[in-house]
Amino acid sequence: MLKGKIKLDGDKSISHRILIFGSIASSKSIVHNLSQCEDVQRTLNILKNCNIKFKITKNYTEIYPSQIKQKVKKFYCGNSGTTARFMLGFLPSIGVSGTLYGDKSLSKRPMKRLIDPLLKMNVKIKKVKNNLPIQFQKSKVNPINFTLNHPSAQIKSSLIFAALSIYKKSTFRDIFKTRNHTENIIDFLGGNSKEVKKFTINGFNYNVPGDISSASFIIAGALLMKGSEINIQNVLFNKTRIGFINVLKKMNAKISISNIKTKQNEKTADISVKYSQKLKGVILNKKEVVNMIDEIPIFALIACYANGTTKVSNAIELRYKESDRIESIIYNLKKCGAKISELNDGFIINKSKMLYNTSIKDFNDHRIAMMCEILYLVENKKINTLENKVIKTSFPNFYQQIRKLYEKV
Ligand code: S3P
Repeated sequence: MLKGKIKLDGDKSISHRILIFGSIASSKSIVHNLSQCEDVQRTLNILKNCNIKFKITKNYTEIYPSQIKQKVKKFYCGNSGTTARFMLGFLPSIGVSGTLYGDKSLSKRPMKRLIDPLLKMNVKIKKVKNNLPIQFQKSKVNPINFTLNHPSAQIKSSLIFAALSIYKKSTFRDIFKTRNHTENIIDFLGGNSKEVKKFTINGFNYNVPGDISSASFIIAGALLMKGSEINIQNVLFNKTRIGFINVLKKMNAKISISNIKTKQNEKTADISVKYSQKLKGVILNKKEVVNMIDEIPIFALIACYANGTTKVSNAIELRYKESDRIESIIYNLKKCGAKISELNDGFIINKSKMLYNTSIKDFNDHRIAMMCEILYLVENKKINTLENKVIKTSFPNFYQQIRKLYEKV
């Protein structure tokens, strides 16, 4: 079982964004609890390669903005879609030219949906194909009035980063209500997210709340292991990110929220979770899917233990993540006994008798790897000693955090 209290490293989405804002501030910023994951490291390295200086200590990261001077021509994004998308809007707008490239998985992910509006903003992108590597040139950006046509906060934020380079106003309409951290940071720093334009960003202090997406894996472990009772402190509790918690509550999960605070324009809370024997299936609506898009893999695992039927639809975006997550979820859960069937835009799960099967595959996708590790933990009642490195993409101390909570029955 899992017992006790933990705190998590900073939210990955906010960490990427805060590094970029720190780089365009007028003086030094200090960030506490920055995510330590590989994806955020990719963003930080690219900024370093543009001459932004960082002082990294155990407790905080200092960002020293300085004259942009690019040190390389090719910028490596690894597995990080957020880095690639943000940088395609950001780098040309700050006067950088070059090529963005990534690993095999990132090189397959769709970029056309971002390239098209960036071209409208006069961002100079050499459009050979719609995937990485992509070549771009420093650009004098035009403003845009943009209505999001995909539920993607990465697209929205990339365009916002480009729009922040000029004094003319741009507007962004997000009918999907995707995560709004970029907007929240702009307003926190004294800008106006309703009419985005260049503004003076003074050096700031920022404490990144614990990563709610990382928390979801620990929450799942506690819900599914007899006797568990845990508390995760100071977790990001932004309403565009807590679809997972709200849906679990509907399923009869024993989750309680306390200590809700608003700091730096973001809500945080402590989340308590107890073993929940009587989970029931649920049908997700469109909004819930958007607000828990990264949590769908671990949610699918939980659904296998819930009475009745669970349906996830309107989730075609899952096909464009680090893996085709509809395929990778179904492949693995089926191997482990799940009664799961595929939809074009999701899947249907019925309560199943689960058993960990060693022939599972992580598809090189951190969230699929963690889903499998929680399944191992729940079924074998111990932590896998063969640590999967893919998990470092978003949650480098996944195993340590679980070990802190783990008690043998
Ligand atoms: C993110 C947005 C989401 C999410 C990703 C992080 C962000 O991607 O899946 O993990 O930080 O803006 P999309 O914008 O492609 O939906």
